[in-house]
Amino acid sequence: MESLKNKPVDSPNSDLSEQIKAATKDSHIRAENTQLMLNFQRGQITETQYKLLLCSLYEIYQALEEELDRNCDHTGIKPIYFPQELARLESLEQDLEHFFGPQWRNKISVPAATHRYTQRLREIGKNSPILLVAHAYTRYLGDLSGGQVLGKITQRSLGLRGNKGVAFFSFPGVTSPNKFKQLYRARMNCIDVTDQEKLDIPDEATRAFELNIEVFDDLHKMLSITEENSRKDITSNTFASSPVLQ
Ligand code: HEM
Repeated sequence: MESLKNKPVDSPNSDLSEQIKAATKDSHIRAENTQLMLNFQRGQITETQYKLLLCSLYEIYQALEEELDRNCDHTGIKPIYFPQELARLESLEQDLEHFFGPQWRNKISVPAATHRYTQRLREIGKNSPILLVAHAYTRYLGDLSGGQVLGKITQRSLGLRGNKGVAFFSFPGVTSPNKFKQLYRARMNCIDVTDQEKLDIPDEATRAFELNIEVFDDLHKMLSITEENSRKDITSNTFASSPVLQ
């Protein structure tokens, strides 16, 4: 993993939202340029790739949202707690049911990197809940930004109709993603953080990006193995025997 040290920001007194954006600028570029995200942007995502990504997102949001719910009265979490507007777990359940059918829970398959990500979420939810701000920022503001474009591309690439299979990308409780992001940043900036936390939260956000990148890379490896095996016409359960799975 790359150094988690903060990148310098324009002003040491800048708001948390500016600090976090500056600290994760390079990580964002790297996340956009992972093979999986490049495939997405080029409209080259296959149904298998998308289904596997949904499985990992399900595990990640389950951990993130359970920890946010559990800590919703924490003074650092309260200002950025928007379950009505942002929660993704139910939409992911709908998408998984669409692709895997009613028994989807038995068909979830995730790589080791996804477990590492959820373990980190559980750990900070228990020991340093303020750092959940960094994880909520990384996922939700990303979903409301590039995620909106990716949703449309996915729908087109996979020939999906309406919200079927792509509920994850849709935020019925958010009328304007841009205005909501402004509100979210303002709320982040009014969190009462110590000087140390103002350093730790952007650090944790770079870690959150790193965890996402590792999930994308692991998924890409899993998919390469799957595609290789299907070319060899192997019909056994490839995911279960994948070396990247825990
Ligand atoms: C913001 C594109 C992947 C997290 C944005 C913005 C765009 C974008 C256009 C808006 C920038 C702005 O308003 O200044 C993309 C594309 C991606 C991608 C095309 C990949 C195909 C990701 C990933 C994550 C992420 C994988 C994290 C897991 C964020 C965050 C923001 C953001 C947190 C908000 C930045 C801020 O305003 O502080 N993205 N993104 N993005 N993205 Fe991404």
